[in-house]
Amino acid sequence: MIRWGTCLAAMLVLASAANAQTAVERGSYLVNTVLTCGNCHSPKGPPAAIAGKDFSGGLSWDEPPFKVTATNITPDKETGIGSWSDAGIKKLIRTGVRPDEVQIAAIMPTGFYEIMTDRDLNAVVAYLRTLKPVKNKVPDPVYKMAASRQVFPGAEKPMPQAAMGDKVKRGFYLATIAHCMECHTPMEKGVRDFKTKLGTGGFDFPGPWGVSTSRTLTSHKTTGIGGWTDAEIKRAITQGVSKDGGKLKPPMGYEYYAKMTAADLDAVVAWLRTVPAKE
Ligand code: HEC
Ligand code: HEC
Repeated sequence: MIRWGTCLAAMLVLASAANAQTAVERGSYLVNTVLTCGNCHSPKGPPAAIAGKDFSGGLSWDEPPFKVTATNITPDKETGIGSWSDAGIKKLIRTGVRPDEVQIAAIMPTGFYEIMTDRDLNAVVAYLRTLKPVKNKVPDPVYKMAASRQVFPGAEKPMPQAAMGDKVKRGFYLATIAHCMECHTPMEKGVRDFKTKLGTGGFDFPGPWGVSTSRTLTSHKTTGIGGWTDAEIKRAITQGVSKDGGKLKPPMGYEYYAKMTAADLDAVVAWLRTVPAKE
């Protein structure tokens, strides 16, 4: 009885702590850690972001299907999203469809955001509204082919809030919105092979850092992270240091993931341990 009472009291404390976090605080946490929005939307020539210009437009991609720049997502009315409705921003994040019904380039991992809970999505929008408006017009997108979009398996609909109490399910949720498996799964005929090659890496990322190639995240004992300790996995995610001590290159947003809570990081690792071993 006493145990149950203590447990209940602890749960109540946890529940009130979660409630005490305002929507803007929750949104700030998500955007600046797990979601890594600024990793694309803030201007940066490595190493550091340009002070005062956060979220005002960032990286560019020139690929066969499109030439696009991560847009200005500050509340500036003319060059940012200040005149968008909340519903318009939410629809863009979950589906990649702009208010003018244009499907944006799949560089933005919206196929990983359909799983976002309503609470988290509202929190993200509430936070974006508090950003300092920055005037900066990014070049208009050029689309050379019809847009394609792939939804991550299991992320087709918002996660029920109740599932968040389960560590592995929460880890799946967080790793999904962190789009880990987008970068860590190879392409097969133009689509990511989540079915048979989930987490096997081998995807190339050219950039100012040269070329980095994503590595295997499966639980395979030798080619994956099956033989790593939790601490080694967390160090790689948050500090960009591999098991052998080698420094890992961008574009993985280590410095964003570094600010995740210990509990959230634990949940991500718990889910990674369930990714089936593959060569
Ligand atoms: C991997 C890079 C990347 C990440 C991560 C990313 N975005 Fe984007 N985002 C883009 C690109 C590129 C575009 C422009 C695509 C286009 O023009 O077709 C875009 C477009 C947008 C737009 C449409 C703006 C407009 O004016 O059309 C919004 C809003 C947006 N992103 C918000 C976010 C938010 C919020 C996050 C974090 C949850 C986020 N993005 C994460 C790359 C990214
Ligand atoms: C934007 C692409 C991208 C995203 C998103 C991303 N990664 Fe990575 N990750 C990489 C690349 C590329 C490397 C290899 C870097 C290098 O070799 O220098 C890497 C390396 C790693 C490593 C080190 C593996 C080794 O063998 O050293 C781990 C662990 C890892 N990522 C886990 C994750 C997890 C967990 C997430 C989500 C929370 C994630 N990554 C999100 C691109 C990404």
